[in-house]
Amino acid sequence: MPGFELIGKEEFSEVKSVFDEGGILFRHSFDHLRNGVYKVQEFEKSFAKRMNVPHALAVTSGTAALRVALAALDIKTGDEIITQSFTFVATVEAIIESRAIPVITEIDKTLNMDPADLESKITDKTRAIIVVHMLGVPARLKEIKEIADKNGIPLIEDTAWGCGGYYNQISLGTYGDIGTYSFDFAKTMTTGEGGMVVFKDKNLFDKAAAWHDHGHENNPDLPRWEDSRSCSGFNYRMMELQGAVGLAQLKKLDYVVEKQRENADLIEQTIADLSIEMRTVPDGSFETADALVFFVDNNRTARKCRDALLKATLGTKILPEAITWHFAGTWDHMQELVNRNGIDLINAFPKSIELLNRSVSLPIAINMLDNFPTKIRDTLMSVLK
Ligand SMILES: Cc1ncc(COP(=O)(O)O)c(C=O)c1O
Repeated sequence: MPGFELIGKEEFSEVKSVFDEGGILFRHSFDHLRNGVYKVQEFEKSFAKRMNVPHALAVTSGTAALRVALAALDIKTGDEIITQSFTFVATVEAIIESRAIPVITEIDKTLNMDPADLESKITDKTRAIIVVHMLGVPARLKEIKEIADKNGIPLIEDTAWGCGGYYNQISLGTYGDIGTYSFDFAKTMTTGEGGMVVFKDKNLFDKAAAWHDHGHENNPDLPRWEDSRSCSGFNYRMMELQGAVGLAQLKKLDYVVEKQRENADLIEQTIADLSIEMRTVPDGSFETADALVFFVDNNRTARKCRDALLKATLGTKILPEAITWHFAGTWDHMQELVNRNGIDLINAFPKSIELLNRSVSLPIAINMLDNFPTKIRDTLMSVLK
């Protein structure tokens, strides 16, 4: 489990320095009162450097990051945005909030977007594709990017779970055109609440930066309250205390991912001979190992695994229990999904539900007790024997 396990004196010291140097909590202005301290700006620069991408924009959440990414692409009413059936509601909420139509693909055994289904869902109204690296395993980015490029459609990577991972040695979030990240409290690195959007293209970055700040262009030749603007926008600005925590957490990111991978490997080796099938991981993947997912025979067995793991105070992460928040087939409260896929939404994505129903996801901690893998094995054995 993630960066919150390591929150401590480094984050405190970064936050303290904001107060020591004048206590300016706004990311802009107040230049004469802040002794050169601009934590959000510094966080953006450091994040861009770590991800090897030219532009990064800090925002208030991973949901805001998706909304801002779509605003940068000038998404209009009725445009179609394709994403996958297994994701958190936020991905589809951002599409609906942009007045666009969410179009949902099936997933495959990577539990991410099925490239073949993606191809069949593209129409002349498709304006963007949002692929999600669920639970830290990269999607089939090569195939998906090829399809996106062939059709001239921008690719957004929802990297809420993939921060710190790679695909073919390229940081997740930077393979496509735009990458979004979440720093909520359950993520690989956290600022409590917060997010980041990264861009290769300066024009898209400039649009996003203005849109997330009421349209402010932050023209260096004008005082902020006389600033120029060319579009309306909203307020998704990150504040200085989050930027300060982010700077400290970013320094821990590689350690977090390395430790999670090590612990996930240990668990995988320990349960390797059980009658389970591990989730497919595409070639070239460097997972964040936020969770370790395997398939069992059916939903009944998956639920039994969950109950046994809970009883043994081990627990599961999202699957099979939290499917209602993470599978589009259950979101009949979203009229846009019902309109497009019919009232029998739960059966609209049969391949996805078949896989999700028999998935079990084990949470991976940084600070894992030595006996954790064997405890997991013994507990699963009691169900799968
Ligand atoms: C796939 C995915 N996208 C977006 C988000 C939204 O992030 P946030 O909680 O920071 O708004 C989440 C949060 O869990 C997520 O899992």
